[in-house]
Amino acid sequence: MKIISTPSELKNYLKEHKQSIGFVPTMGALHEGHITLIKKARAENELVVVSIFVNPTQFLQGEDLDKYPRRDEADKKICELSGVDVVFLPQAEDMYQKDEVSILAPKVRGYVLEGHSRPGHFSGVLTVVMKLLNIVNPSRAYFGKKDAQQLNLIKLMVEQMFMDVEIVAVDTVREKDGLALSSRNIYLSPQQRQDALKISESLYLASKLVSKKVWDVQEIKTQMRELLKPLDVEYVEILSRDFDNIKEVILGHTVILVEAKVGETRLLDNIWL
Ligand code: PAJ
Repeated sequence: MKIISTPSELKNYLKEHKQSIGFVPTMGALHEGHITLIKKARAENELVVVSIFVNPTQFLQGEDLDKYPRRDEADKKICELSGVDVVFLPQAEDMYQKDEVSILAPKVRGYVLEGHSRPGHFSGVLTVVMKLLNIVNPSRAYFGKKDAQQLNLIKLMVEQMFMDVEIVAVDTVREKDGLALSSRNIYLSPQQRQDALKISESLYLASKLVSKKVWDVQEIKTQMRELLKPLDVEYVEILSRDFDNIKEVILGHTVILVEAKVGETRLLDNIWL
């Protein structure tokens, strides 16, 4: 496995490889969720590239940039064991200059939901993903459905900027008790870890209601909010998979999203119905 730390070195290395490239961008502290993306990339491509970069531009002032878990050595081992060919581990100075061209998230879809609680966050995400995709130039890039809005905006960027990459969406990986895996779960105390289960429970409740033919979005949201009461809920939303408002759930076309703070930790989850 090769470890590369500068964009020019990676571009030069990949120039010599004419195979199909599967790319998995991450911020490290790798867990089963990331590993599932990597394994899918491994199965579908000849060469697999993983980037590990805690991207400063997607963190707002006062967020957890400084304390975000960094575990480069363990991450490299996980990559090696998962069959990764190249790990890209740049420094912020390698990725950003002083006076930067901007990529801005769309004014509506980039500023609702998580973009509302974290204004500007998605501009940082899109900027770094654009840079990474340009460096790696992969055939396919893999993203988790866990970050549904991020996935939606990246697909939008690729389409609107006429970029030549297939975006592959991968199902959310969960703990046995339902908690969606996240690098931020390590911030949770045992009690908070328990409280956080309300998030996935509210999504299971929603799918149960839908299976009983309760289609009304308001009704489902009210029952979910009731269950989520002990948490500091940022939003509960039921939208079309294109992130448009809907009044009724349509099977195969709906996403239900929750964001809640447990203590200081912001947790996201969703299900696709
Ligand atoms: P990070 O949070 O490290 O996540 C990297 C990828 O793993 C994302 O596509 C995310 O959706 C996916 N992922 C995280 N938890 C998952 C889970 N439980 N099941 C399935 N997939 C999961 O998302 C980012 O990094 C950054 O914003 C990034 C895209 C790398 C840009 O900096």
